[in-house]
Amino acid sequence: MTSPIDPTTTAAWAELDALRTAFTPDLRAWFDGDPGRVGRFSLPLADLHVDLSKNLVTDEVLAALVRLAEQTGVADRFAAMLAGQHINTTEDRAVLHTALRRPAGATPPLEVDGQDVDADVQAVLDRMSAFAERVRSGEWVGVTGQRVTHVVNIGIGGSDLGPVMAYEALKPYADAGIEARFVSNIDPTDLAQKVSGLNAETTLFIVASKTFTTLETLTNARLARDWLWEKLGAAGAIGTSEEDRSNAVAHHFIAVSTALDKVAAFGIDPANAFGFWDWVGGRYSVGSAIGTSLAIALGPQVFRDLLAGFHAVDEHVRTTPLAQNVPVLMGLLNVWYVNFLGSQTHAVLPYAQQLHRFPAYLQQLTMESNGKSVRWDGSPVSTDTGEVFWGEPGTNGQHAFYQLIHQGTRLIPADFIAVVNPAYPLRDGEQDVHALFLANFLAQTKALAFGKTAEEVEAEGTTGALVAARTFAGNRPTTSIFAPALTPSVLGQLIALYEHITFTQGVVWGINSFDQWGVELGKKLALEIAPAIEGDDAALAAQDASTQALIAYYREHRV
Ligand code: F6P
Repeated sequence: MTSPIDPTTTAAWAELDALRTAFTPDLRAWFDGDPGRVGRFSLPLADLHVDLSKNLVTDEVLAALVRLAEQTGVADRFAAMLAGQHINTTEDRAVLHTALRRPAGATPPLEVDGQDVDADVQAVLDRMSAFAERVRSGEWVGVTGQRVTHVVNIGIGGSDLGPVMAYEALKPYADAGIEARFVSNIDPTDLAQKVSGLNAETTLFIVASKTFTTLETLTNARLARDWLWEKLGAAGAIGTSEEDRSNAVAHHFIAVSTALDKVAAFGIDPANAFGFWDWVGGRYSVGSAIGTSLAIALGPQVFRDLLAGFHAVDEHVRTTPLAQNVPVLMGLLNVWYVNFLGSQTHAVLPYAQQLHRFPAYLQQLTMESNGKSVRWDGSPVSTDTGEVFWGEPGTNGQHAFYQLIHQGTRLIPADFIAVVNPAYPLRDGEQDVHALFLANFLAQTKALAFGKTAEEVEAEGTTGALVAARTFAGNRPTTSIFAPALTPSVLGQLIALYEHITFTQGVVWGINSFDQWGVELGKKLALEIAPAIEGDDAALAAQDASTQALIAYYREHRV
């Protein structure tokens, strides 16, 4: 494994530093003086049309950024990832989420660490598809012989965010009368509310956990099992015998995990479990069996179309020169903003209500991946790394936080994502409502880029102090991502786009984007603190003064 390159030691970094010193962004002038700008900065990515022209870059900056990618070895590392090298150094693992979406019969076959990866991926996909069809057709029935109407996915982090985001995005494809619900939080409210109104006899739980050790998921799985036994018992469908209860679990629980032995220990028949492998990171796992809830509710073909979308973008990254490589360029632009122009956050603003969970999904993808302070060899980084990703769908955000993006003091690059054809093409009288929605997307990116000068404000009759308040500086960078429609394939393309943006940034910074040691400490401490809350005074005494005081408050107010 090669050592990471300190990006600040490269010639390209020095070039970018020099360019930054003399940098005065002026999107108005750049657009006015360069009719070819939009054409040069607009690129196709599978079905997506990506317009980078409203970013704060010149051809010179972009060329230097591409040299930075060359000098930090982005393409080589992508090839190493695809080939199954152990680029997840701290866990000594391959990183092969891209293998999940290789089409059946892809050549040459992918063999990694003695595993026939393609054969294993296709075998699980086939089993999962067959199972989904059995549930959808009504062949799979609950313990009282009734077909499934609801699937409840129990998982957290990557075992939740991808499936729930994709389900929300693709809900118009749900055609089998099966609704999916998602339980993630260990706050008991989540499980209680998600099972509310469900009929246990027609509910199928999917326990989704890569490790099958996650406290939240296993706790919720046990709560769900108790709920099932209680409801089926109350309906007279089962008794309290061990046999009745395990029969109920066999009909109403399946699992997805890399740890099939632990699945069996929980009481779920391994025949009803779907596996994946340690080379699929949790936040990169929606294309694995973690997507079983999607295959059931939306159908296996929808799931395969989603995978095909991912693969189209994987292929784009693998085969396209860096200067036209959309995910690489978007990753490089982020590096430019973070390391040279001082941005700290990045907004993702879908103009598609169906993508309302996409920003939350991206938060895990980007921030768990690139929130690192050391490089992949353990040496400290010499630059800032991962920015804070956040967002909400437009137009809701316009009426909430856009003010700060338009007129605040911070630089917030923003990605706007929109589709041409909506799932629900409604009209308000003569008005095509979706066209009105899209007018907002275009208006916002225009206002952010070009602003409104004091002269323009005055020309409208405004005077005095109001002129400054009504002036928009412009030069607020945006990327516009447009797709014909939010199909399963387009969703896969969008997810893969951001996976590879994240990857590009990680390689430039020399970090391992595929581990997440930073989440461990809190998990360990929670296990130590839980007894203190419940009344263990020795555990309480071991806590710091603030934690002790908060626990005292809890004990005092608990009813
Ligand atoms: O705690 C973080 C994390 O490990 C994530 O990376 C992961 O997606 C999530 O927990 C859930 O883990 P699992 O799928 O093993 O239950």
